[in-house]
Amino acid sequence: PRILLLHGPNLNLLGERDPAQYGSTTLREIEERTAALAGELGAEVHCAQSNSEGELVGLIHEARHADSGIVFNPGAYAHYSYALRDAIDAVAGLGVPCIEIHISNVHAREPFRHTSVTAPVCQGLVAGHGVFGYELALRAVLNRIAEAGK
Ligand code: DQA
Repeated sequence: PRILLLHGPNLNLLGERDPAQYGSTTLREIEERTAALAGELGAEVHCAQSNSEGELVGLIHEARHADSGIVFNPGAYAHYSYALRDAIDAVAGLGVPCIEIHISNVHAREPFRHTSVTAPVCQGLVAGHGVFGYELALRAVLNRIAEAGK
């Protein structure tokens, strides 16, 4: 299987941004570790990050041809982007599962972070486990793909 590891706005600043909340690991390190684990699990990861909602929609659309699943940290778009929700829903309907991930425990933070409009169209959600959550999310999406027999 080939997995799209997708990051939304401000996550290019991981490692520098609010380390109390997000830790000191950089996006590059997350991508490298996830790709290494995927290799051990017989999968392949390709990585993308964008600060733009429209670009993220396009990357999700492209995944329907190129990828068998998505691990997606939508950043703050999770809380209000119906366009991303619809994109995830569209590719899910074509058999491409998506697991949503947040590094921080969004439910322990400001009330606006307690809502995710994207999580209901994802196959599952990982939040609050720091960057270890990427391992959980990768295993979860691969399990979905295996269950679907693809
Ligand atoms: C985040 C949580 C979001 O609320 C926030 O806007 C982010 C990061 C996380 O990984 O914990 O940008 O998605």
